[in-house]
Amino acid sequence: MKSGFLEKLRPRLDRLDPSVVQSIVDRLLQEKSFFLQVFEALHEGVILIGTDGRVTFLNAAASRFFGLDVELSVGKKLGDLVRGMDWPSLMDQARVVSRDMEVFYPERRYLHFYLAPIADSETPSGFVMIINDLTSNRAETQATIESERLGALTLLAAGVAHEIGNPLNSLGIHLQLLDRKIKKLAATERQMLEDHLATARQEIQRLDSILKQFLQAIRPSTLRREPVKLDELCRDVLRLLEPELSERGIGVVLDLDADLPVLQLDAVQMQQVFHNLLRNAAQAVSQDSEGRITVEIHSNDYEMQVLIADNGMGISPEQMGIMFEPFRSTKEGGTGLGLLIVRRIIREHGGEMEIESREGSGTRVSLFLPLAAKKARLLPEPEQVIEISS
Ligand SMILES: Nc1ncnc2c1ncn2[C@@H]1O[C@H](COP(=O)(O)OP(=O)(O)OP(=O)(O)O)[C@@H](O)[C@H]1O
Ligand SMILES: [Mg+2]
Repeated sequence: MKSGFLEKLRPRLDRLDPSVVQSIVDRLLQEKSFFLQVFEALHEGVILIGTDGRVTFLNAAASRFFGLDVELSVGKKLGDLVRGMDWPSLMDQARVVSRDMEVFYPERRYLHFYLAPIADSETPSGFVMIINDLTSNRAETQATIESERLGALTLLAAGVAHEIGNPLNSLGIHLQLLDRKIKKLAATERQMLEDHLATARQEIQRLDSILKQFLQAIRPSTLRREPVKLDELCRDVLRLLEPELSERGIGVVLDLDADLPVLQLDAVQMQQVFHNLLRNAAQAVSQDSEGRITVEIHSNDYEMQVLIADNGMGISPEQMGIMFEPFRSTKEGGTGLGLLIVRRIIREHGGEMEIESREGSGTRVSLFLPLAAKKARLLPEPEQVIEISS
């Protein structure tokens, strides 16, 4: 039935012959059953949720992923059917959310879902949730981690080129700074330049270690875990990015818990995570607006949460759906590998990643890293808020 046909017919319905109405209803039922068949044939799970948070439809794949009975689930709150997520806070009329989740019932699965509001002209009519099962990819070559590491050699080669690009870029800026200062300063002040030289040297070391990592990646390797203070690591990366941030006039606000536990992490790879996410945030902010990046690190008894938020351009629903595909970039000169690498590293650490975005007002990336050892704590500690530039 052509779009617009029913709208045109509606005011004239009472004047139509009952047999015509009957045939229109029959056609509509036929079309409905066709669309239902399409939804049922999808490998992806589809769940439709009303503005009240209740499920109005779920297809066969979704019921299989979560072990739900279709008949019994319709009309129930999503939070009562799928536990472990703060659904009300994820359902927001103005943003789309992309997230990984692990479910243990009816079987252990790694899922990735994408939750977007459905708006019929101006009136919001609910949400659509599209779910992909990543379990089979993971199982294919022992685990996705393994397949990502070993399987796609071309991806790795491009990934290394990408990783070399970032420090090289930073090196360039520092060397430029040195160059300018050497020309202007008197010999007595040259001492200052040693800081920049030290930074440049540090970046060369980083390049070196990335290359080593590449070689290790070709020969399968495990994470090199060591005790890491994530707040210190974050400050180190921010220090390296300082020239780029201040050049763009971006203010950074840090809100780091004072008593963060030391985690067993791969420090070099976690630096990469912060580097890629902070650069994405910085690049999302337009040069002439007041750019701000907020980094929060909090911990509770079972996980550490890292939030990196920017007030940049945000991500469109279309881009959100393909963001993790390699080589998908909206930037000139971008490789579209940054987020893929971040996700791989976080997964290797047993963590999860969530991205929320409002188009036009900003993006927030959350990382959830499990604590190796459970920590008993009686009282929450006060938070420490530090402004490092504005
Ligand atoms: N904070 C953000 N704000 C807006 N868009 C973002 C943000 N982070 C990622 N994106 C979008 O996701 C895409 C993929 O990001 P990713 O880091 O994987 O690659 P890239 O940044 O394009 O390239 P590279 O990392 O090589 O510079 C980006 O091109 C951009 O469209
Ligand atoms: Mg990037």
